[in-house]
Amino acid sequence: MKKKILVTGGTGYIGSHTAVELIEDGSEVIIIDNLTNSEAGVATRIGQITGTTPELAVLDICDREKLSEFFHDHPGISGIIHFAAYKAVGESVRKPLEYYRNNIQTTVNLLEGMKTFRIPGFVFSSSCTVYGQPARLPVSEDSPLQPAASPYGNTKRICEEIIRDTIAADPNLRGISLRYFNPIGAHPSALIGELPRGVPENLVPFITQTAFGLRDELKVFGNDYDTPDGSCIRDYLHVVDLAKAHVTAINRLVEGRNKSGYETFNLGTGTGVSVLEAISSFERATGLKLKYRITDRRPGDIEKIWADPSLANRELGWKTNISLDESMRTAWEWEKFIRKSN
Ligand code: UD1
Repeated sequence: MKKKILVTGGTGYIGSHTAVELIEDGSEVIIIDNLTNSEAGVATRIGQITGTTPELAVLDICDREKLSEFFHDHPGISGIIHFAAYKAVGESVRKPLEYYRNNIQTTVNLLEGMKTFRIPGFVFSSSCTVYGQPARLPVSEDSPLQPAASPYGNTKRICEEIIRDTIAADPNLRGISLRYFNPIGAHPSALIGELPRGVPENLVPFITQTAFGLRDELKVFGNDYDTPDGSCIRDYLHVVDLAKAHVTAINRLVEGRNKSGYETFNLGTGTGVSVLEAISSFERATGLKLKYRITDRRPGDIEKIWADPSLANRELGWKTNISLDESMRTAWEWEKFIRKSN
């Protein structure tokens, strides 16, 4: 029998790529999204890629009653992958309560739904932001967590703790938090990808928009860090590789192969890449020249972080396969696709 998986935020960037991989893995996918930061047409494009258009329920998970009605109407869900959340670091500093209400309430409501409707598996979209600036690199899952630098980061940490405590109190529940490093790139079809509203905060959308001529130049935030070329270091992984980790994680829970009720995994390549190296990769992959300028540091930036992904490699049998250059190439193909279609 087909597994029925609920993907919240399934028309968003990582959610849509995960929906594609789940369908290609043979699962039935149902999406809940309130479309505050995405478009309903993404479900159609998932259908164009896979041949199966997932059901899209447009609702706000903060609404407990509506969510309960949804679960009533959709029996037999065996797992939830929870992406739906606000995610802009700067905005979260200006609007902390909106972030706490939305990101925490949705998680609590879904966990309550799992208990009531006997849904065993929950995969949570977390972030390496929970580690702050780690003392030791690469960072493994047992590194101490640090106070969050933003309300956004704090919601990730708080939600992880809520999931852990809920699972500890109920032997029927199982959960995995996936701590992403920096997801980039787009599906090779160029039909789905990241769609930032307004000026992008993240590096790769800013690079592709600059290359397209929507932005004058990329500002490289600092070249006086304690790194080989002075710019910050991150661990950039392709969104399709990341999406595949969700398929492995939810299958592990639904099939009861997890080692303990609650687990956390780092998802990254294991390789650190500087901002200047990322720019070179983009130029190599596309044959374009990018206009950029070194500016001041961005407040709150972490100097360097990259993953030790060996636990996910070993336990989930997952590793990244797509190179940085290929990630940049697909990000660029996607940028061209959205500009043509808008
Ligand atoms: C940021 C958040 C992180 C969140 C993630 C979501 C901070 C401190 N961290 O991660 O909590 O989970 O987004 O995707 O905000 N850069 C430039 N110029 C730009 C944009 C970025 O030089 O115009 C540099 C940054 O200084 C950084 C690197 O590019 O070194 C990556 O930045 P970004 O894509 O914003 O990701 P993070 O800062 O790693």
